[in-house]
Amino acid sequence: MKTVIYPGTFDPITNGHIDILKKASRVFDQVILSVAEDTGKSTLFSVDEREQICREAVRDIANVQVMKFSGLVVNFARKVNAIAMIRGLRAISDFEYELSQALMNEKLSDRFSTIFFVPDYKYLYLSSSMIKQVISLGGSINNLLPPGVEEALRKKLNL
Ligand code: COA
Repeated sequence: MKTVIYPGTFDPITNGHIDILKKASRVFDQVILSVAEDTGKSTLFSVDEREQICREAVRDIANVQVMKFSGLVVNFARKVNAIAMIRGLRAISDFEYELSQALMNEKLSDRFSTIFFVPDYKYLYLSSSMIKQVISLGGSINNLLPPGVEEALRKKLNL
């Protein structure tokens, strides 16, 4: 049974994340979408809210489950017996950040590799911050968010 984790902040999850998740779910037996509490970012949604929104968003993907975690991602990976971590590599601008994280995680646990998937071109320049900004300024997002996420954003932002 090959289990991988797909960690992130997911504030909120977008169709770009779902695209990566689906690709990983075709390759591995089990993918654990891992919602990080300790991300160094100030988030709009609490970790419990992010976990709940992710759970709704992935409920139709059979071999994916959602778990929140705190502390180091390598410790969480060990706890759930993951063989590797999945990350999405979008534009070149992601590369240095992803490389530094992957190297630090390998330093922390030398049996733990990062595997990169590329998203569909539609999602290349998508980010959760951009989505939050557009919605908070009254815009509407078509086909970039799983069902229910736009509504959750509007509710959270009192719009
Ligand atoms: N489609 C759309 N957007 C994507 C995406 C995709 N396929 N892949 C990444 N993004 C966006 C995210 O929405 C996010 O946007 P934002 O910055 O506007 O919020 C950004 O790219 C990157 O975020 P994300 O994928 O959520 O990762 P992250 O960099 O926020 O998460 C963790 C980093 C959680 C993996 C890292 O902080 C962590 O491991 N924390 C645990 C503590 C730890 O072990 N730290 C040491 C790590 S070396």
